[in-house]
Amino acid sequence: MILPIVAYGSPVLKKIAKEITSDYPNLNQLIDNMWETMYASNGVGLAAPQIGISIRMFIIDASPFVDEELMDEKEVKTLSNFKKIFINPKIISEDGNLWDFNEGCLSIPEVREDVLRKEEILITFFNENFECEKLKLNGLAARVVQHEYDHIEGILFTDKISSFKRKIINNFSINNKIRITKIGTIVNGKDRSVILADSGLQIFPNNKGYFHNF
Ligand code: CO
Repeated sequence: MILPIVAYGSPVLKKIAKEITSDYPNLNQLIDNMWETMYASNGVGLAAPQIGISIRMFIIDASPFVDEELMDEKEVKTLSNFKKIFINPKIISEDGNLWDFNEGCLSIPEVREDVLRKEEILITFFNENFECEKLKLNGLAARVVQHEYDHIEGILFTDKISSFKRKIINNFSINNKIRITKIGTIVNGKDRSVILADSGLQIFPNNKGYFHNF
C-alpha cells in the first residue's frame, strides 16, 4: 500500500524517533508499504518519520544513482547492490573530508540544495530479521544513510543550509497560502500527482524534477 508522505512543516519530521523491538506490530507489512511508497515516489531512501511514524527505521535502494551520476566502477558496484533496511541504526563514526552534493528530500518538494557531509561512515544497525550488521560506507552510499539518519534524529537538510535559503522555503509556503503538512501520492498509470493537503493545490503533475530524492 502506498502511504502519504509527510512534508516540510509537519512536527513529526522534527522529532527524535524511538527505537523499536523485534515484536513491533506488523513490521513486515510496514516495511513492504515503505518500499512501495518509496518506489512510487522515485525515491532512493525513505525514513519512517516521513510517513508519519516516529520510529528509528529507514530503507534505502541507491541503485537508481548508477544511471545518472558520474562514478568509478567500484562505486557503481556498491550502489547497484545497495538495497537495505536499517533498524535502530547507530552511526559510530564519520570521517574524511566534507564534500558537496545536491540533495533533494521527498518531504520538501521543489527544493534541492548542496549539502556538505563527511565522506565516510561506520554504522551498526539491525536488519529486517533483527540481526546486527556493521557497515563501512563512503561516497553516495554514506550520504544517503546520513540523510536518512538525520530524519530519525529530527533533522532536515534545510537545517544544514543558510537561514537565508530557509526563509525562501518558508516564504514559498506562506505566499502560496499553504501550510505544507502532507503530500498525498496518487499513482495513475505512470502519472503521479502530489497534493499539498491543506490547500488541495496540486504540484508535480509527473515525475519530472523528482528523481533521486530521499
Ligand atoms: Co529526506
